[in-house]
Amino acid sequence: MKKWLADRLICPECLPKEIPLDLEIKEAELDDVLEGELTCPACKRRYQVHKGVVVVLPEKSMPVLQENLGYNSPGMLSSYLWSHYSDLFKDPQATDAYRVWASHFRNINGYALDIGCAVGRLSFELSKSNTHVIGIDTSISFIRKARELLKAKELTFDLIIEGLITEERSSTFDGQWNFDRIDFIVADALALPFPKSMFSTVTSVNILEKLSSPIDHLIDINRVLREENSMFMFSDPFSWDESVSHPESWLGGKTHGTYRGRGIDTIACLFSGRDAIFDPPLEITARSNVSWKIRKTENLWEHINSQFIIGNRK
Ligand SMILES: C[S@@+](CC[C@H](N)C(=O)[O-])C[C@H]1O[C@@H](n2cnc3c(N)ncnc32)[C@H](O)[C@@H]1O
Repeated sequence: MKKWLADRLICPECLPKEIPLDLEIKEAELDDVLEGELTCPACKRRYQVHKGVVVVLPEKSMPVLQENLGYNSPGMLSSYLWSHYSDLFKDPQATDAYRVWASHFRNINGYALDIGCAVGRLSFELSKSNTHVIGIDTSISFIRKARELLKAKELTFDLIIEGLITEERSSTFDGQWNFDRIDFIVADALALPFPKSMFSTVTSVNILEKLSSPIDHLIDINRVLREENSMFMFSDPFSWDESVSHPESWLGGKTHGTYRGRGIDTIACLFSGRDAIFDPPLEITARSNVSWKIRKTENLWEHINSQFIIGNRK
């Protein structure tokens, strides 16, 4: 965990009160804390830094760290590393989705937050146009790998071909990325451990449908997004899933009730001020689709249409 980041973290357990955390460093390497502890002076909760990775989750989200399936599994790591970096190691079937999303970033001086960053590609892209970038995710396996990439400035991993058969893939990284501006931490999109108005850029890409309460995610983004000179990039395939959230909580994909109709239309209305979720509202400057791919094995692919929308505050 970078020292500049430790100065900005607040206690996710004490939200909506914003209580800065106290840092005790046990081992550091230049500006990177490798072993240590953050403590909340109010609730006394402790957040460990181990091997450079800090976990700033509220107590109720801690079980996600123990999950060996889903986003912590080796298969997912292979899938997302392919998805994020296949254009760099010149896979003939590479997706250019991350370059498309990144082409919309604006040069705004300030902190950027990449929510659900996975293995970090958008955070790396954000480092071109922001002074500090923080990628957060609840998958400790993704965050460990993202930090490894950040340190090594190159990629090496075992791509799954079939079952336990793998092949190595590698690539050096784009010289335009500013590695010292970036850090990755384990944190929850529904309890962002940052103070009000900290960020000039926020991205929420392909995560909304994975959250138990999508509207609370947007409310928390509004809290941390600057009231002026800021942008929010949102993108999602809106593949609502009842095992993740109750249809009453969905922001689209239904014919009755609050937020009926299509998800992307709901998001556009919310950007424009509906229900004061975004206050001040966001001016919509782009709205389109991004064709995105996840590669599970050589023979199994997901082709996804992610609908994106960009909101700005002047
Ligand atoms: C569909 S993936 C998208 C990843 C990345 N944004 C991308 O587009 O490549 C969803 C990501 O959200 C993360 N995630 C799920 N629930 C989360 C939560 N409550 N807080 C933070 N991250 C979460 C997952 O671990 C995963 O990395």
